[in-house]
Parts: sequence; structure tokens; C-alpha cells
Amino acid sequence: MEKITIAIDGYSSTGKSTIAKQLAKVLGYIYVDTGAMYRAVTLYAIRNGFISLDKNDIEGLVTALPKVKLKFVYNDSLGFSEMYLNDENVEGEIRTMEVSKLVSKVATIEEVRKKLVKIQKAMGLEKGIVMDGRDIGTVVFPDAELKIFMTASPEKRATRRYKELLDKGQDVNYEEVLKNVEHRDHIDTHREISPLMQAEDAIIFDNSDMGLEEQFSRVLDFSKRVIDKQKKDVR
Ligand code: DC
Repeated sequence: MEKITIAIDGYSSTGKSTIAKQLAKVLGYIYVDTGAMYRAVTLYAIRNGFISLDKNDIEGLVTALPKVKLKFVYNDSLGFSEMYLNDENVEGEIRTMEVSKLVSKVATIEEVRKKLVKIQKAMGLEKGIVMDGRDIGTVVFPDAELKIFMTASPEKRATRRYKELLDKGQDVNYEEVLKNVEHRDHIDTHREISPLMQAEDAIIFDNSDMGLEEQFSRVLDFSKRVIDKQKKDVR
């Protein structure tokens, strides 16, 4: 079967990773959560004292970047890959509010983006990949056969993230989560390098009023259409 590259971009907490993960599983593709990579670098920066709410030692972090080793390790029982930072499983720690508050800052650093984009491009060489993030359709895979741009209202997204964090037992309040969502939207869309932007050839997918099942069946449908077209073109 002809394999394609699927790029899923969009605002934070639009459910990109849930859909991308499920899609990869059904198509037998590799799934890559690039947000997890930015989060892992942020965790490294926090742990080593380079970044905090009132500290920005960008130079220190950039100098230390060669020491940051990232990899995804497939967890058979969970059915998806988990993020490892220097051989430690950090999948839980990268999802805390502390990391969420600082990650946009780290994602604006040019050297960090260069390092991560290089790894991401290498992961996609063989196609058969579903990657989600902010710059996948524009920078990482500008030639992806299918690009989806996911969006939903800030309130819907904050409600989803709030429930997720509560389920994980984290002590959060809705207002704080909404503020974080809006703050990240602002930084993600206004940063100088690779801002969150819809690729010209992306399908805009607003899922504010859509359940997971409907979202998934639509996205699977888009994918099948592109894959079928690809097969016909090859013949
Ligand atoms: O998808 P997420 O919320 O886990 O992403 C965390 C942060 O990383 C988000 O605020 C923006 C940044 N990011 C990015 O700049 N580029 C990507 N390709 C993925 C994420």
C-alpha cells in the first residue's frame, strides 16, 4: 500500500494527539507527538535551572542542548510511544502545568527548533507517519500529502484540558487552565520563528461541536481519500 505523510497542526488542546494517535494505529503508521519533544526540552531547562517563571538563561540552555537526548520508546501495553529524556521516561512529568506554562517560551528559541525539526524530518523519511504539532505542515513536512489544521474555541479547549488534568489527579482550576490556553495561543501564533500558521493547502477542521467518534471518522475519511488517490496515481 502507498504510504503517505500526514501533518496535523493546530492550537493547543484541540485534541490533535488523540486523533493522530488513533489514526496512526488504524493505518499502521508511526505516530509522533512533537509537542512532547518541546516539553521534554523544557523539563530539562527547568531541572537544570535555565528557565523558570522569572529566569531566562537562553544562552545556558542553548549551550547545554547537545546534552539533551530525546527518543520515543513504544509502550506495548499502552499502544503508543512515550517520551524519553536522556534515557528516562518523562511522559508523566512533561504534562504538568509547570511545564505547560514554560514550554511556549522554550519553543521560541531558534536553536531548539532547529534541533527538533532536524530529528522530526529524519523520522519522516520513510513516510507512513502521522505527526502533530504547530509547524508540521509548514516547516517539517511542507510536502505532506495530507495536512489538517485543527481548531476549537478556547473555552472548549480549556474545558477538555481541565478535565484531563483533574483525571490525572492534578490540583488545577478552570480559570488557570483557560488563561494558559489563551496565553499559549498568543505566544504560538506571534513568535518570530515558525509561528503556528495554517498551511495554504491544509484542511481546516473545527471540532468545537464534534465528539471524538465523529472527528475520527472524518479524519480517517480524508486520509483514505488521499491514500486511494495516491494508489491510482501510481498505477
Ligand atoms: O501540543 P502541546 O500542547 O503538547 O505543545 C506544547 C508546546 O510546544 C506548545 O505550546 C507549542 C510548542 N510546539 C511547537 O512550538 N511546535 C511544535 N511542532 C509542537 C509544539
